Amino acid sequence: MTTNDFAYNPLDDIDQIIVDEETIKKRLKELGEEINRTYEGRDLAVIAIINGAIIFVADLIRELRIPIQLDCVRISSYRDEAKPVQTPEVIDKIRLDLKGIDVLVIDDILDSGSTLARVTEMFKAMQPASLKTCVLLDKNTTRSVPFEADFVGFRIPDEFVVGYGLDFAERYRQLPCIGVLRPELQNPPEWS
Ligand code: IMP
Ligand code: MG
Repeated sequence: MTTNDFAYNPLDDIDQIIVDEETIKKRLKELGEEINRTYEGRDLAVIAIINGAIIFVADLIRELRIPIQLDCVRISSYRDEAKPVQTPEVIDKIRLDLKGIDVLVIDDILDSGSTLARVTEMFKAMQPASLKTCVLLDKNTTRSVPFEADFVGFRIPDEFVVGYGLDFAERYRQLPCIGVLRPELQNPPEWS
């Protein structure tokens, strides 16, 4: 059996690719180098905001040549559709003690800014030595909270995107690229 024998291919649901697989891979190497240079000679705690950041973080940390500790925080800012809930909720907290250490918080995408604003405020209270943020995507939109990330993979237009960890109703995270869904799939009746 080859992969061609499977009827389902999530790529068939994509209308337009915004960032392709090769471009992501190349940019991740550059981002990794930026992070390596920034934290040279230091120890770093990497905190992934899951589920969205899992693919990005898994690939990015393999470009790092500094000692790291990894932990995850689970935040709910979107329910099962492309509509934000007002205040992001922390569903699962980290286990690491961040006091006195360098912390890099990683998310898939910076959109309204409310998720990263909420999470960084929470971690600052743990008194880390430093706190920076890294996002794969920075959406060109009006933020509801002013927020800029320290490390950015790509700046993208104001569209709802899926793939490479980003979901629509928990689907499409497995796509190797980032793209916009076909319009008829953006709000299928069975998910609303
Ligand atoms: P913010 O709090 O509005 O900045 O949104 C950040 C969170 O919303 C991210 O962690 C994503 O999970 C989700 N999100 C925002 N825009 C998109 C998108 O275009 N596709 C998928 N998820 C998104
Ligand atoms: Mg999401």
